[in-house]
Amino acid sequence: MKKIFHQLLRATLLTSALLGTGLPTAQAADNAPVKMQALRGGTPVDQDNAPTAFKQERDHSPSDRDFVQQPPLIPHTIQGYQITKNFNKCMDCHAWQKTKASGATKVSVTHFRTREGQELDSISPRRYFCTQCHVPQTDAKPLVENTFQRARGLQ
Ligand code: HEC
Ligand code: HEC
Repeated sequence: MKKIFHQLLRATLLTSALLGTGLPTAQAADNAPVKMQALRGGTPVDQDNAPTAFKQERDHSPSDRDFVQQPPLIPHTIQGYQITKNFNKCMDCHAWQKTKASGATKVSVTHFRTREGQELDSISPRRYFCTQCHVPQTDAKPLVENTFQRARGLQ
C-alpha cells in the first residue's frame, strides 16, 4: 500500500514538474486570472533549488509486486545514476547484453515496443527515462492513510 502511494506521488510530482505546473487550477473561474505556481517555486529555470533532505535506500532483494502490471520497484540505490540524452546508467546493467555480467534483471520485452507498436532491437524511446516509472522504495509511514490492498491474485 505504501509502495503504490509513493509511486503515485512520485508520478504526480514528476508530471507536474514536467508540465511546469503545480496544483490543478481547474476550479478557477473561466475568465479569472490563473495563478500558476511551479514546484520549483520562483527559482529561475537557469538556477537549481537547494536539495531537500532525502535518504537513499540500501540495496535489498527485489520487492514483491502489488499488481502484475506494476513497474517493479528499484531494490538498490540509484544515487548518481544519470539518464541523459547520451547516456543511460541503468542500461549499463539492465540491457540484455549486460545482464550476464551484472546479474541485473533484463529490461522487460515490452520496453522494446514503440507507441506505434513497432518492435525495436534496443530500448524504445518511450521507455528511456526509467525513473519515470521505476522508483526506489522507502519503508516509511504513509503520508496519507489509505485502504489500498495488494491485488487478490498476488496476496
Ligand atoms: C551496477 C548495476 C546496476 C545499475 C547501474 C542499475 N541496476 Fe537495477 N538492478 C541491478 C541488479 C543486480 C538487480 C537485481 C537485484 C536482485 O535480483 O537481487 C537490479 C534490480 C532492479 C529492479 C528490480 C527488478 C525486479 O524484478 O524486481 C529494477 C526495477 C531496477 N533494477 C531498475 C533500475 C533502474 C531504473 C536503474 C537506473 C536508475 C538501475 N536499475 C540501475 C543492477 C543495476
Ligand atoms: C512508462 C513506464 C516505464 C518506463 C519508462 C520503464 N519501465 Fe521498466 N517496467 C514498466 C512496467 C509497467 C513493468 C512491468 C510490466 C512489463 O514487463 O512491462 C516494467 C518491468 C521492468 C523490469 C522487470 C522485467 C521482468 O522481467 O520482470 C525491469 C528490469 C525494468 N522494467 C527496467 C527498466 C529500465 C532499466 C528502464 C529504463 C531503460 C525502464 N524499465 C523503463 C514500466 C516502465
